Amino acid sequence: MQPLLRVDRLSVAFSSDAGRHTAVDDLSFSIAPGESLALVGESGSGKSVTALAILRLLDPRAQVAGSIWFREEDWLQLPERAMTTRRGRDAAMVFQEPMTALNPVMSIGKQIAEAIRVHRRDLSRSAVRQRAIEALESVSIPEPHLRFDDYPHQFSGGQRQRILIAMALVNRPSLIVADEPTTALDVTVQAQILGLLRELKERSNAALLFISHDLSVVAQIAQRVAVMRKGQIVEIAACAQLFANPQHPYTQSLLAAVPTMHSNRNAPLAAAETIGIMPEGPLVEVAPCHWTRVAE
Ligand SMILES: Nc1ncnc2c1ncn2[C@@H]1O[C@H](COP(=O)(O)OP(=O)(O)O)[C@@H](O)[C@H]1O
Ligand SMILES: [Mg+2]
Repeated sequence: MQPLLRVDRLSVAFSSDAGRHTAVDDLSFSIAPGESLALVGESGSGKSVTALAILRLLDPRAQVAGSIWFREEDWLQLPERAMTTRRGRDAAMVFQEPMTALNPVMSIGKQIAEAIRVHRRDLSRSAVRQRAIEALESVSIPEPHLRFDDYPHQFSGGQRQRILIAMALVNRPSLIVADEPTTALDVTVQAQILGLLRELKERSNAALLFISHDLSVVAQIAQRVAVMRKGQIVEIAACAQLFANPQHPYTQSLLAAVPTMHSNRNAPLAAAETIGIMPEGPLVEVAPCHWTRVAE
């Protein structure tokens, strides 16, 4: 099948007085229509930079190379004007921090209505309002017609994340990029939001790029997993295959660090570097659709 998204040899670097820092290093992967792929890795491994690069939301000073093929189009070659019509309509982003991603001085109804209006100038005011209310209903905000004019601070953290998801899905994008969408939430709410995302993804048949530092979360939502380290993929496989038969020592160390019932889920992943040798050679297919880096 033709992929929906094909990231091809993406590199992103930042320059500062301290020198040039490569955040994403020659990264390639693709997502089929309706598929869910997780990017997982420690903090600083380049997950968010990858997500932002796909939607062309990076700091303009970032030096970006490679291609982001969305269907037949390389988004890295599009003028900014064209990109604004792709964002939200073709691919939409759910951010980690709903409090900073929502505008605190605008009612949530108005924010969702604006997201609709960007792509649907043909709809009347009342039709836009109706759509926004339906969007809130779809993420189980109780009595959305009464909550339409409320502000973000009048909702709980879990509800704010639901509102962000509603906003991302309101134009029915074929790709949802969710960057640590449950990390700021407590475990019970986290499970509810994951369930909601899974359900909405299935109902809309959208593809999902799900980003997390937490392998136990990834296991609940992704069909395939790509493990990132220092801006590169070190291993990529079907979720079940990766968990049952991890090949790269970095993946093995991440799996060993998966929190249990009794440990702190929000603690940073254990230092994988203690393992020692990290094969940094080419990605090799070790089993069908299971690729891992081997020694050079
Ligand atoms: N705007 C920026 N300017 C300079 N460096 C950045 C910027 N954004 C991210 N980085 C750097 O890129 C690397 C990858 O960051 P990021 O993608 O946010 O990691 P992750 O999401 O995996 O935790 C980090 O070293 C980070 O400091
Ligand atoms: Mg991040």
